[in-house]
Amino acid sequence: MTPSLFTPLSIRDTEIPNRVMLSPMCQYSADDGLANEWHRVHLGSRAVGGAGLVMAEATAVEPRGRITPGCLGIWSDEHVERLEPITEFVRSQGSVPAIQLAHAGRKGSHAVPADGGHGLGPDHEDGWETVSASDDPYPEERQAATRRLDIDGIADVTESFRAAAERALAAGFEVAEVHAAHGYLFHQFLSPVTNDRDDEYGGSFENRTRLLREAVAAVRDVWPADKPLFVRISATDWLPDRPSWDVDDSVRLAPLLVDAGADLIDVSSGGIHPDQRLPGTGPGYQVPCAEAVRERADVPVAAVGGITEPAHADALVRNGRADLVAIGRELLRHPYWPLEAAHELGADIEWPVQYRRGRFD
Ligand SMILES: Cc1cc2nc3c(=O)[nH]c(=O)nc-3n(C[C@H](O)[C@H](O)[C@H](O)COP(=O)(O)O)c2cc1C
Repeated sequence: MTPSLFTPLSIRDTEIPNRVMLSPMCQYSADDGLANEWHRVHLGSRAVGGAGLVMAEATAVEPRGRITPGCLGIWSDEHVERLEPITEFVRSQGSVPAIQLAHAGRKGSHAVPADGGHGLGPDHEDGWETVSASDDPYPEERQAATRRLDIDGIADVTESFRAAAERALAAGFEVAEVHAAHGYLFHQFLSPVTNDRDDEYGGSFENRTRLLREAVAAVRDVWPADKPLFVRISATDWLPDRPSWDVDDSVRLAPLLVDAGADLIDVSSGGIHPDQRLPGTGPGYQVPCAEAVRERADVPVAAVGGITEPAHADALVRNGRADLVAIGRELLRHPYWPLEAAHELGADIEWPVQYRRGRFD
């Protein structure tokens, strides 16, 4: 049978009840990385709304891995305690709780968007020293220098991801996603735009992908064999005018990530350099990238970007272009989008018992 948007997806021993995934979205609402009522209501609402998989925002594996002081973190047992009620509630709604494990690298130490979103620098009371593959800062105003990680520092990053995955498991998450997209730390190693190293973590494709492969393997080491592991990548830097990361690299990388223990590649794009030139950001603008990874590497994918229409999302699954459809901003506007989409598509979906009187029929 051809799967559709409301067909369950089984990965390892986890069944995701439908193909709608809440795309991870920073809320910039945490203190010291600790989740609070905002995160519970935000993520809980999307579970009430019927998203099959509810993914928490980029959650930093160590304090300096945050983008802003308001980002979530998962570097202590207190972080676990704060996340637990969220996973419990999401699961109570029949959705699968997922978490994106992240390290911002040189794109860390920024003010939250409401305060301007600019770089803070290590001397600012809310800022810190960032680390990266090389010493070059992200080219923007007010961005302080970053520090190139040495070999021990690289090993520490991998260990931070391993420890974060253990904590994510303790907090009750059923899917972990390693964030290797959008110009953050792993992407800074992958892309020749930001990696000028001449050791075993720079230069060749094999070397530039080494850190991500090691980190994914470390997460898989502690992440149970029955639970799915995703990796979000930027399929292309959108910088064809210089040596950069492109779709061919992503197609080559995907099976290596599967070898390291990943089950699905969540295919996004961009974020490494402000010179990037996107061909557009219309409906499904990154779908061709996801499709390339799925078709050419034969690896399951999530597609994301500008997907707002139920028929479009459904067609992506029916036509074999994506296994999951991640929805971001549309789910900010419409937290109950999946319930409405199911109605529009004539699919059967369980409503929360409290809301049954609100069903369309
Ligand atoms: C407010 C906001 C925060 C975001 N935070 C994250 C994040 O934490 N991790 C991530 O991988 N992408 C993040 N993104 C990107 C989204 O997950 C998504 O890929 C992007 O918005 C495109 O999908 P859309 O057109 O459905 O919104 C964020 C996007 C928005 C709008």
